[in-house]
Amino acid sequence: MSHFLKHIDAMTGYVPGEQPRDRTFIKLNTNENPYPPSQKVAEAMMPILLDGRLRLYPDPVASEFRRTAAELHEVDPSWIMAGNGSDDILTILTRAFAGPGDVIASAQPGYILYETLSDLQNAKFEIVPFPVNWTIGPEHIIGLKNPKIFYLANPNSPSGTIMTPEAVAQLAEALPCPLVVDEAYGDFATTNCISLVKSHPNVIVSRTFSKGYSLAGLRLGYCIARPEIIAGLNKVKDSYNCDMLSLAGGTAALLDQEWLIETRQKIWNTRARLSSGAAELGYLIPESHANFIWCEGGPPAQEVYDALRDRDILVRLMKYPGREPALRITVGTDPQIDALLSALAEIV
Ligand SMILES: Cc1ncc(COP(=O)(O)O)c(C=O)c1O
Repeated sequence: MSHFLKHIDAMTGYVPGEQPRDRTFIKLNTNENPYPPSQKVAEAMMPILLDGRLRLYPDPVASEFRRTAAELHEVDPSWIMAGNGSDDILTILTRAFAGPGDVIASAQPGYILYETLSDLQNAKFEIVPFPVNWTIGPEHIIGLKNPKIFYLANPNSPSGTIMTPEAVAQLAEALPCPLVVDEAYGDFATTNCISLVKSHPNVIVSRTFSKGYSLAGLRLGYCIARPEIIAGLNKVKDSYNCDMLSLAGGTAALLDQEWLIETRQKIWNTRARLSSGAAELGYLIPESHANFIWCEGGPPAQEVYDALRDRDILVRLMKYPGREPALRITVGTDPQIDALLSALAEIV
């Protein structure tokens, strides 16, 4: 007999991309940044490890980190909340806004975790399919009945496409609920929706250090929203949801924008080579605004995935209802992408 709540027993649970421990793969499956993080991150964390401060609890409201992030984004610190990775931010938002039976909506194909979070709340997850131009307009959400939260990954995963701030503003105006603009890949894009938080009271922007800042192992993210929303979210989060090391490391990372600009340029250059190489092999690749590309059509995804795996190259095989399986490939270093492209040419 199970003691779990019925809806917990019924759900599958989120399956993250493979994190192999036993073989040395070229790992292009979970959109990690291939370059080491800024040196400033370790420099900021080291004194904390050495001077005994870890015996104390961290600042529950991440004051210094929030001040730094606020300055960068030109908002007041009261507009920011930190989280243990942006997945923590998404969890807090879902728990704050939706309960059993409520509608949680999202554009699909999109980030799979949104559905898991909805299942955890015993909410009803409703999919709004992306049209061919990868832009959800007010006309696409007419069928939604009283949604409590709408998730939009922008840039989107797995497609790498982006909606313009103007289009996101229109969507926000048409929605009767918070619109969470998940900018996990925002550091690789040339536009973002942070200014919409000021003009549109229902827009909440979520950010992470896992991709642009090369700190997936540290677990830090944050969201930007109006102060009254942040005040409500603070009631939902764990008191000490971010540890002292990640807050110090994240603050240092934000202060080293030079590192971000340099690293991003390298990723952009390699992304262009990866996209044209994969397109030559017959894949249809929407223009990517992130650190990965999405390959639909072309040679069969499952077979190519298996053949790459046999050669110790790991990419992500993605299956969405109503679509052919497709491959999502993270932009690695130049040598990694050279190895991938020659393996692909051999396989295909
Ligand atoms: C769209 C999107 N949002 C959020 C996340 C979560 O990032 P993290 O919890 O590492 O900040 C990911 C991770 O892959 C993602 O793809």
